[in-house]
Amino acid sequence: MMHLDKLFTGRILYEGDFLEGCVGVRDGEIFFVGKEANAPSYDEKIDFNRLLIIPGLIDIHAHLRGMRLKHKEDFSTGTFAAAAGGFTLVLDMPNTDPPTNTHLRMMEKIEEATPQIVVDVGFYFGKPSDRNELQKLLKTVAVGLKLYPEDYCKAGSETTGMLETVRKHGRKIVFHPEDVSIIEENRRRYPEQLKGVEKHGFIRPVEAELSALDVFRSLSGPGAHATHLTTLRSILRARANGFTFDVSVNHLTLSEEDLLRMGSICKVNPPLRSQEERTMLLQSLNRGEVKILATDHAPHTLEEKSSTLYDEVPSGIPCLETAFPALLDLAGRGALNLHNVIDGFTRGPAGFLGDDKLGVIRERNAANLTVVDPKEEWVVKPEEFHTKAKFSPFSNRVLRGRVKATILRGELVYREGEISVPKGFGKIYGAKS
Ligand code: NCD
Ligand code: ZN
Repeated sequence: MMHLDKLFTGRILYEGDFLEGCVGVRDGEIFFVGKEANAPSYDEKIDFNRLLIIPGLIDIHAHLRGMRLKHKEDFSTGTFAAAAGGFTLVLDMPNTDPPTNTHLRMMEKIEEATPQIVVDVGFYFGKPSDRNELQKLLKTVAVGLKLYPEDYCKAGSETTGMLETVRKHGRKIVFHPEDVSIIEENRRRYPEQLKGVEKHGFIRPVEAELSALDVFRSLSGPGAHATHLTTLRSILRARANGFTFDVSVNHLTLSEEDLLRMGSICKVNPPLRSQEERTMLLQSLNRGEVKILATDHAPHTLEEKSSTLYDEVPSGIPCLETAFPALLDLAGRGALNLHNVIDGFTRGPAGFLGDDKLGVIRERNAANLTVVDPKEEWVVKPEEFHTKAKFSPFSNRVLRGRVKATILRGELVYREGEISVPKGFGKIYGAKS
């Protein structure tokens, strides 16, 4: 008879329903899901009682920074924040200083991150300068290529060729859809709007997003992934163009009204949209059209975010620790469907990665689990965040729904505010080199 290392009891998301029972773990894998009475013997039991046990959350879009930006975030503070937010795997973006777009930089980044991370981390590379560098990057574990507007909006056939090569190697192509020509044109025509941050959504309108989805389609054909879509119109356009897509928690939980009320802290690219657009985004998630959610955790220093001058304030909102609770809060109020929220950070991203060991609680899958209390109310105190970016649009807000524990390969990585594994416990995630 099989013997388990650990048993976690609670209300387990299993085959689409919450089952009062337990998850049995051995060697970091799930070996049993069912009623406790039927479980094999075990060494240790951890009772979560009435709490929900869901698959470990996966964020396919976060900025963990490091290197010359480690004053904003480093791989330990970034992954501490991820663990505290319920994430067991995070994919890190390449817009670093220096940019992660050569083989050497990728290897340096992996070397820097490896001893620091407490959850698993995968990496995207940025647009390489030539095909030789691309070939070398494709030999690393990087999950794929991330393109920013300036990388593709004015690009030619050599970029199309690169994209074909990335796809042929089975790596992901993720792009940030905002057309730089439209943004540049607006900046030229309306210089008086470039003083404060209030007109951010006017300078970078939905039309820029829609146009970029078409520009990218003509460059790459179908099959790429558009990240952080902000409106239903963009979702429809992305689908028509044959792209997969995600929606960021920022655009589901905040609107332009928050930018007007809170200012610089809510400046993010693409910008927050109107309350009407946000409502349509929530409804689209509820209809099951949005399969993948992302945080776009983008830490900056409080000093940088304290500026009120449009071009001085960097765009981006730190949110690894509030993203899932903010969605649970909306689900608790009936504004979001709980199962679609959970799937958006579990099953959806696992499908994006093509990884059938993640995203679902099932025998033989990785024992990556997130434990949440959908009813606990807590006050967001940014000074208690694990990220270095100790500010938030949710500061002092009461959220109903809290991450209680995060379990990676059967080990408690985070519980009740504390990180409980040494740095380096997380592993680098990625393609077999
Ligand atoms: C990103 C960041 O801070 O790295 N910011 C953001 O607003 N999403 C960069 C970017 O995508 O522009
Ligand atoms: Zn981003």
